[in-house]
Formats: sequence, C-alpha cells, structure tokens
Amino acid sequence: MANNSPIGVYDSGLGGLTVWREVRRALPTESLVYLGDGKNCPYGSRPREEIVRLADEAVARLVAEGCKMVVVACNTATAAAIDFLRAKYASLPIVGMEPAVKPACLATRTGIVGVIATERSLDGDLFRRTAARYGEGIKVITAPGRGFVELVEENREESDEALETVHRVVDGMVAEGADQIVLGCTHYPFLMSALRRVVEGRNISIIDPSPAVARRVAQLLEKFSLAADPRQTPTYQFITFADEEYRLRLERKALSSL
Ligand code: DGL
Repeated sequence: MANNSPIGVYDSGLGGLTVWREVRRALPTESLVYLGDGKNCPYGSRPREEIVRLADEAVARLVAEGCKMVVVACNTATAAAIDFLRAKYASLPIVGMEPAVKPACLATRTGIVGVIATERSLDGDLFRRTAARYGEGIKVITAPGRGFVELVEENREESDEALETVHRVVDGMVAEGADQIVLGCTHYPFLMSALRRVVEGRNISIIDPSPAVARRVAQLLEKFSLAADPRQTPTYQFITFADEEYRLRLERKALSSL
C-alpha cells in the first residue's frame, strides 16, 4: 500500500538543500518537509552533546510533522548524533550522510584524496572509521572548510571572497597531489563554481555525495514499503527554528537551486 506521508530532510541551515534537490529529482512523487534549523547554524564547531540535542529536537519536529522517514542532510549532525537518533527513533528509517571517501579512494590515480568538512565531522569516529576502512594504501588529507558555511548562508557563493576562501582551503591539497576532493559538508556543493575555478585545468574530480544519498532513500522506501502513490502530486514544505525571514530564504534558495 502506498504511503503518501512526507520525507523529512534536515540540516543546520541551507546546506541540506543540496540533498533535498537530489531527493526531489530522484523521487518526484514524494512530498518533502525541509527543516533548516537556522537558529543554531553553524553546527561545525559546537560540542558533540549540543549537536545531539539539536538533532534530537529537529527529528522530533519532523516526526510531529508526520514524516515517514528522515534524511539527516548534515554531515556534522550525522557524525555526532546518528547512533543516538537511530536508537531513540527506532521505528523511523533514518538516512545519514557518509563522507564519500570510498568512491574517492576507488577513483584516485595519484593515491591522494582530499576531504573537506567541518571540524566536528573530521574529528568524529564516523570519518575516522570510513577513512580507515577504504583508505588503506591511500593518503587521505583533510582540511576544515573554514568560512564555507558562512558564505553559503549569506548567499555569497559567487563573490571574490568565496573564490579566495576556497583557494585558501583547497590549494594545499592540490599542491600535495590530491586528484579527488570529497565535499564532506552539505553546504559545500553550493560553492561548486568557485571549487571548479580553483582546480581548473587540472585533472581533479570534486565529489558530492548527495546523489548517492538520494539513491539510498529510494532503496529504503522500497525496503520498508513506504513509497508514495506514483500518481501523487507532491508538496514541498519548508520549516525552521529561526524566523519567517529565514524560512523564506530556505524556500527561495531551494527554488533557485533546481
Ligand atoms: N551542512 C552541515 C554539514 O553537512 C553543517 C554545516 C554547519 O552547520 O557547520 O556538515
């Protein structure tokens, strides 16, 4: 039987919209509720316990909105809270973000992979485990994307400052010989044009894991028989813990990202 309840997609702010748009593209009959916290963004350097509390509030809100599944479209919240969330909301399928270290390690020709993420994601167990599992014999270099989230939250992705900020973070990886750069934070794909300019003329791939996350959502809908009626006209709702102005920004950014 079809289940027309929405899928919840959650991030600290606007970044999870890069996942939202992939889920929307892959599953065009599914209704979506996007929760961009906004009030507590950025999460990137907050203590783990605080992120767990914020993620718990967010998932509780999406459950209250009637969501049949939740996508934690935030690497930082996934790294800090996914085990807690899966234990607490045991009957709710929850999809998290995994840093795309595996495809990068499989694809590298130089044997050097760069990963950009928030501080909290990089020092979490999830990243350490993933890097250890797939990175054998490969040098995985990491750098926090300092300033990236702020640029995206302030809609300054196309500015000169964005290009300078990306240069500051990525140049070192390029100099070390990385030929794969993994975007380990859902805000970062919004900086794709600056990232592409920075690596221009070199044989470097930039890996955005969000299409893989959308495929995982599709698999779980199948597995738990949760897919919507294929004739359903989907609805797209945007909610936040910040104010109405932020909510409208979420909506505008979502539409402009399609
Ligand atoms: N978009 C988030 C992530 O994927 C977090 C950014 C932040 O709030 O610092 O990690």
